[in-house]
Amino acid sequence: ADGLQAAAAVKGLAFGSAVPITRFRQDRRWRSLAERECGILVCENAMKFSSVVPREGVFDSVAADETLRFARANGQRMRGHCLIWHEGLPPWAEAILASGSASRAETLMRQWIGAMARRYRGTIEAWDVVNEIVVPADHRPGGLRATPWLAALGPGYVDLAFQMLKDEDPGASAVYNENDCEQKADWIDERRSAILRLLEGMLKRGVPINRFGIQAHLTSNLPFDETTLRKFLREIAGMGLAIEITELDIDDRAFPADVAARDRGVADLARRFLETVFDEPAVLNVLAWDLYDPDSWLSIYPARRRPDGLPQRGLPFDAEYRRKPLWHAMHAAF
Ligand code: XIL
Repeated sequence: ADGLQAAAAVKGLAFGSAVPITRFRQDRRWRSLAERECGILVCENAMKFSSVVPREGVFDSVAADETLRFARANGQRMRGHCLIWHEGLPPWAEAILASGSASRAETLMRQWIGAMARRYRGTIEAWDVVNEIVVPADHRPGGLRATPWLAALGPGYVDLAFQMLKDEDPGASAVYNENDCEQKADWIDERRSAILRLLEGMLKRGVPINRFGIQAHLTSNLPFDETTLRKFLREIAGMGLAIEITELDIDDRAFPADVAARDRGVADLARRFLETVFDEPAVLNVLAWDLYDPDSWLSIYPARRRPDGLPQRGLPFDAEYRRKPLWHAMHAAF
């Protein structure tokens, strides 16, 4: 095995990826890539609320279970993504959250978290309990994001979700997973402070949280500043929390169309980011948000699309399954 996991393991770290279910089911070459490169997997969508419970009373974990069986057969660990998020909510659950009844909302949360935690107890090592909960970067100041969960249950929804996971699967690590806290922007200090204040409050209240997840959807649109990221990581580690890099990819919109130049830009940004995060001993692992360029959500999401219409090249393998400069940068950083 000469994949990224082997390189990560030498440093006591792990490397893994999100699993896009259609690719996983249809493409043997992709599966052998995932076997060789990954020590830890996460479902890209298959464990989200709207995937598992698309209609009230339906519980469809077929795709999630298939992924889990694959991971176990290959000796790979698995993360769970994600329990409480403002996206990926099925319409029937949104209706309950909008009904004005806090007790119905709390029952909904308990049933959903309970069902997932019980089903995957002993197999999911860490759950993203809450995902993207602070106010989006461009809507300052910091504080909790306006979501259906916040509207239904008030700010206590965050603590409640962590407590519910703890009640059902005390052995799983509980993660607060967040985006837009990696690079330099005029809003970054405010955003990082909001995150740190939230974590401090939770710890003071005795909320059972173990880890902070940094999504790391890096972007060519923003500069990178090692010093302040290093400080942010130190502050989180200083609270006794472990850190995971949960969704690494690079939006290459601002890099040139030329493939070689673009791949260099992508690899260079990732290298600087990874070198910085690996200096922090609290960091446990890095997961890419897919392995193979044709699968990247960055090429599909309207807000992420390149103005020239070219597909994004933000993942370690190209459309021919070849290792890209990004792969080599990751390998060298481990
Ligand atoms: C994205 C998936 O990649 C897409 O396939 C899906 O349509 C929407 O969600 N942050 C997250 C992930 O936490 O769950 C998102 O995944 C990407 C941004």
